[in-house]
Amino acid sequence: MNSITNNSSTIPAQFQRVVSGMRPTGNLHLGHYHGVLKNWVHLQHEYECFFFVADWHALTTHYEDPSVIDKSVWEMVIDWLAAGVNPTSAKIFVQSQVPEHAELHTLLSMITPLSWLERVPTYKDQQEKLKEKDLSTYGFLGYPLLQSADILAYRAGQVPVGEDQVAHVELTREVARRFNHLYGKEPGFEEKAESAAKKMGKKNAKLYGRLRRSFQEEGDHEALETARALLESQQNITIGDRERLFGYLEGGGKIILPEPQALLTKASKMPGLDGQKMSKSYNNTISLREDPAEAEKKIRTMPTDPARVRLTDPGDPAKCPVWDFHHIYTSESDRKDLAEGCRTASIGCLDCKQSVVDGVLKELVPMRERAQKFTEEPNLVRNIIEEGGELAREEARRTMVEVRQAMGLVY
Ligand code: TRP
Ligand code: SF4
Repeated sequence: MNSITNNSSTIPAQFQRVVSGMRPTGNLHLGHYHGVLKNWVHLQHEYECFFFVADWHALTTHYEDPSVIDKSVWEMVIDWLAAGVNPTSAKIFVQSQVPEHAELHTLLSMITPLSWLERVPTYKDQQEKLKEKDLSTYGFLGYPLLQSADILAYRAGQVPVGEDQVAHVELTREVARRFNHLYGKEPGFEEKAESAAKKMGKKNAKLYGRLRRSFQEEGDHEALETARALLESQQNITIGDRERLFGYLEGGGKIILPEPQALLTKASKMPGLDGQKMSKSYNNTISLREDPAEAEKKIRTMPTDPARVRLTDPGDPAKCPVWDFHHIYTSESDRKDLAEGCRTASIGCLDCKQSVVDGVLKELVPMRERAQKFTEEPNLVRNIIEEGGELAREEARRTMVEVRQAMGLVY
């Protein structure tokens, strides 16, 4: 379903945190569920996850009329919870309630060349696409850098994003590298790293030294991996020492902001009711909290292969938008029978659609139930956001202490 695209994170796998955000600009639908949320639900069991409402990002394009943001924040969190994002597994919060994102954004802006931001493809693309809006603002240019701050504030290892956002994660990596290069060289770094190695004990220090040389002198990547594993397994060294040793291992300075990797979420296989991409602006969606009768009606009135005017006209599933839904909701063996029935005109389209109706309703019913609990008791949602924000701030604060120190902002 989803694929991991690269493995060049500077954080070992089991320490990797996952950070992702979504802009609050409207109700979520089944396209979001199959494209993004199902993936989040899966990730929350494997990693420490931070999922947040990117309200500042929404402001970059909706600054003239922010009312939609206000409306959507709560509704979107309810949609996440309805889809199965679990606040005891993942930290769920609102970006603007963690001001550390803004502080880090400001600090990173000092070292980010303008040209890096100007050449991010979404900058020009979105300006072209959203012609009715004036996006020649400072905030919009900085959109991907704010995203970098979102990610680096938690020293995340993996960032689940769609194709269009991969360039933003790439920028994040470049900014992190630049930051570490500029500020990771503390005075006496090498001596500090050597004495940190000694704290692992004589045997481990020696092993570390040997692996480090194998990597640096012979480019032995296996040695690098082994050394990383060695560092991970150390219980008795401080976080600062661990970072020094990770940095020293690769020949750089201290790694204050590790480079994350994009976890590419493949485009949703779920098209809209008319076969185009599912999107509110095409009016072809089934929302996560759609009334079951309404959902059923929408599926029953979906267009099919236009060749099937009458029941006796044979059709071709490849030309039918319903068929993509079958790929999600119908078993392979049933699909075979339906395809056969379509081609030989032995079944009608409404019969064919029944298993999609069943599948969609089965998916929607538990979501509606979960959502209902939260719409009836808005305080539940407020508490979740409050607690998630508290935990997120704690982590982000920790990062900022190091960032300020590295930049010499401790007086
Ligand atoms: N820009 C992302 C989008 O439009 C949302 C986002 C904001 C995000 N900050 C992030 C995603 C940090 C991942 C990590 O989808
Ligand atoms: Fe589409 Fe099924 Fe009708 Fe064939 S029978 S056109 S696949 S809805």
